[in-house]
Amino acid sequence: MEQKWWQKSVIYQIYPKSFNDSNGDGIGDLKGLIEKLDYLAFLGIDMIWICPIYPSPMDDNGYDISDYQDIAAEFGSLQDFETLVAEAKKRNMKLMMDLVINHTSDEHKWFIESKASLSNPKRDWYIWRNPKEDGSAPNNWRSIFGGSAWEWDQTTEQFYLHTFSKKQPDLNWENEEVRETLFNMVNWWVEKGVDGFRVDAITFIKKGNLTEDLPTTDRDGLALISHACLNQTGIGDFLTELKQKTFANFDLVTVAEAPGVKPEAMPSYIGDNGYFDMLFEFDHVDLDIGKDGKWFEPVNWSLHDLKTAITKSQTHLNESGWGALYLENHDQPRSLNKFLGEVAEADRSKAAKMLATFYFLLKGTPFIYQGQELGMTNVQYESIDVYDDLASTDQYEMALQAGLSSEEALQSVWRRSRDNSRTPMQWDETTHADFTNGQPWLPVNENYKAINVEQQLKDPSSVLHYYKKLIELRKTSEYSETIVNGVYQSILTENDSILGYTREYAGQKLVVLANFTNSSIQLEELAGNPLLTNYESPFSGRALRPFEAVVLEA
Ligand code: GLC
Ligand code: CA
Repeated sequence: MEQKWWQKSVIYQIYPKSFNDSNGDGIGDLKGLIEKLDYLAFLGIDMIWICPIYPSPMDDNGYDISDYQDIAAEFGSLQDFETLVAEAKKRNMKLMMDLVINHTSDEHKWFIESKASLSNPKRDWYIWRNPKEDGSAPNNWRSIFGGSAWEWDQTTEQFYLHTFSKKQPDLNWENEEVRETLFNMVNWWVEKGVDGFRVDAITFIKKGNLTEDLPTTDRDGLALISHACLNQTGIGDFLTELKQKTFANFDLVTVAEAPGVKPEAMPSYIGDNGYFDMLFEFDHVDLDIGKDGKWFEPVNWSLHDLKTAITKSQTHLNESGWGALYLENHDQPRSLNKFLGEVAEADRSKAAKMLATFYFLLKGTPFIYQGQELGMTNVQYESIDVYDDLASTDQYEMALQAGLSSEEALQSVWRRSRDNSRTPMQWDETTHADFTNGQPWLPVNENYKAINVEQQLKDPSSVLHYYKKLIELRKTSEYSETIVNGVYQSILTENDSILGYTREYAGQKLVVLANFTNSSIQLEELAGNPLLTNYESPFSGRALRPFEAVVLEA
């Protein structure tokens, strides 16, 4: 396969609300982001993915779009966007937009028209159905953010479908006008200088049988919509058309948020002629929650489960397609807390570097989520009222309904809340970590004096500098080709403490070892030339120290 620019790239994810505020209103914005482009260039970033910046009532922080062809006032203007494109280009950085086309906001003008009357020309742009004979919802699907996936509309006496919140009505992809309008919108952004798209919740666009109940034993009588609407037969026609009429006509990169894609469907998604270039998998990040994603029902997982998920994915990628490598994003807690639980303060930096090493050198394009490069950690707000994320409030309520105490319910939010990763970026040790001169929309994590950019820039042994080294190793060293193209093979597969693998290409072989525990683990003698380690003193070859990670040339 001919090498694509995005296979050699490192992508950095920006959560715009929390990155950098330029005007003191407590909300990050495009001007603030532009101020920090030099920081990202210093790190070695090739492309930034910005979470949605379109006008939105912000019910789901921008994933509820009310106008696809503008910029939200709190983030700036189309002119600021153009400046951002130009400033990024000056630094050889590309731009990836978030494309949210399964649903809009209920405040989008299309939906306002659609709900105006049964005969409105846009009625069929959304999914409307009559109630059952007893007046209840058309079926028993539960939305991802809780409660029925159907919302009653008094004016026209029908229900509309929403996979996510009731302020996020689903578009009707069966309607050709809807599809054409969305495709034109995508092309409009490409003309504006966008180099790629992260395509939100795309495996939901084809719906299952809208009049059928799902079996359930849940107390609310509902069953999660994912069991009926994920990756349904026929979705391929929509995705092929999307690709043909948009992405395929430009030199872009696309990465799909695509839960529910079975291994046998992988080639159609990301194979040589796949709908997308890469997709985000979930097995490795969701191993601590059950299949319906209830936060208060934690799953006991072991390193073995993580290894199995990684090897399954990488083995596929050896055959076909390309990986999107990630540990964190705006929907996930911080990786240190998730993968390692309680880590002593003295071990934090080492542990963060160990996690970085293990995922960054897998086969695929690495994504870094803002603050991950500092080893930022979860937050524990003292009350559910401080949380802004609607999934957190919903999960808290579900936990109470299931009989948990308010303390236990809050603890499950501490563990899993999406706000864990949405706290403001920690720039320095001044008030509010210098994220804003005003009041931040979400409180800064109180550990900002110990974890911040300014201090890590000064410290060559910081997590930040380690990420920079990893990026250099991947992009500009004599091992680049192997890191990009090498075949993955799991090693020490049965070991309970160490995750290990090799990458092999054109006669060169790299060994990556990561100790996930805070104890020393003996190894059988390993011969090799160490290229990188997260300790100051050299790797002994006979044991991995607590949280030690090492990269060797075999
Ligand atoms: C995706 C986004 C998430 C959002 C949801 C609905 O999963 O990553 O943040 O809430 O889609 O748009
Ligand atoms: Ca602002």
